[in-house]
Amino acid sequence: MTNQLRVPTTVAGIDPATACAEIDLAAFRANVAALQAQAGVPAMVVVKADGYGHGLLECAREARIAGAKWIGVATPAEALMLREAGDAGPVLAWLYGVEEDLAPLVAADVDVAAHSVEHIGRLAAAAGTSERRARVHLKIDTGLSRNGAPSYDWQQVCAAAAEAEHTGAIEVVAVWSHLAAADEPGHPSVPLQLAAFQRGYEQARAAGLEPTLRHLANSAGSLVVPEARLDLVRVGIAAYGVDPAPGIAALAGVGLRPVMRLRSQLVNVKQIPAGASVSYGWTWTADVATTVGLVPLGYGDGIPRHASNKAWVGWSGRRVPVRGRICMDQFVIELGAGAVAEPGEEVTLFGPGDAGEPTAAEWAAWCDTIGYEIVTRIGARVPRRYLHASAEHI
Ligand SMILES: Cc1ncc(COP(=O)(O)O)c(C=O)c1O
Repeated sequence: MTNQLRVPTTVAGIDPATACAEIDLAAFRANVAALQAQAGVPAMVVVKADGYGHGLLECAREARIAGAKWIGVATPAEALMLREAGDAGPVLAWLYGVEEDLAPLVAADVDVAAHSVEHIGRLAAAAGTSERRARVHLKIDTGLSRNGAPSYDWQQVCAAAAEAEHTGAIEVVAVWSHLAAADEPGHPSVPLQLAAFQRGYEQARAAGLEPTLRHLANSAGSLVVPEARLDLVRVGIAAYGVDPAPGIAALAGVGLRPVMRLRSQLVNVKQIPAGASVSYGWTWTADVATTVGLVPLGYGDGIPRHASNKAWVGWSGRRVPVRGRICMDQFVIELGAGAVAEPGEEVTLFGPGDAGEPTAAEWAAWCDTIGYEIVTRIGARVPRRYLHASAEHI
């Protein structure tokens, strides 16, 4: 086991001693293993958006070591980054713009999502340029109304894919879709999407396609919708130890451990008298004389300004509140009347919760958002320290 530090290179970053996101890769591996064991089918671990803020390459590597057969990303650049780093396993990229050249993906043996006749044409052309068959996952929109072919286009898309397959330009590896509300048990969208998916799959077969994979489930689907697991589950947030929604992992009987701990330190401590107000806009005023501390992280680092006057942090074995508005680079916490503290003392914004610190899920509740957003938006200035990296080579 080794520990490594990733310091920001594309932006001027914060010193790791001042603030750091610790990424517990042993917890990440354990989450991936637990999710796969529960699903009973192979997992595609999703590492888009810099591994939901945890590190794309580091998490992809550990996911493979934990037994993930597939890695999922959104953008072509994310997929190519994996290949450049030496990842040679199955990777799916599912979101690209109208101008993007898909040939580098096909040349790098990356599987690519397609949902239109135009996509099929571009992938067939990319196959010609790279002299390699494009591996395609055909996406049908089963009710999310986001990406994927609408049902009125699906037959035409399947026909175009079958034709391109006959010419040898593409191979349709999978039919897939995405769930809208698997994190709300009993939501009526789930059976409707399952039925639409089955219809779409049968239409693809009737068009002469023989995809070996069907995939539909995200983390919540994998955890609590057994019928959605099909041949492969695409798990993102749960691998990072964050519940897709409160209670979902518990409902599934799966223990997840949060992977990210965001820690910083007090860089200033001062006494303020009763009546003193704190931070921009004077939105909080002390009713008694108290001690406040300054934490050098702000919305420039992804700490939500919505958490102003709402969130708590861990300090000295207890929770203390955020006072006043969160600024771009810093915010103030109230240590309490008579509290004694020194600059340099550790402050934990969120973590697994073992030492009483808040979790990302609690920050999400305070900010009226989801745990995904709390971890993913931790910014580029914040160094990541990787704990328990596997020494294994893949
Ligand atoms: C197409 C697709 N599949 C799977 C996932 C993983 O979802 P989750 O993080 O909820 O597991 C995402 C994430 O948004 C996605 O866009």
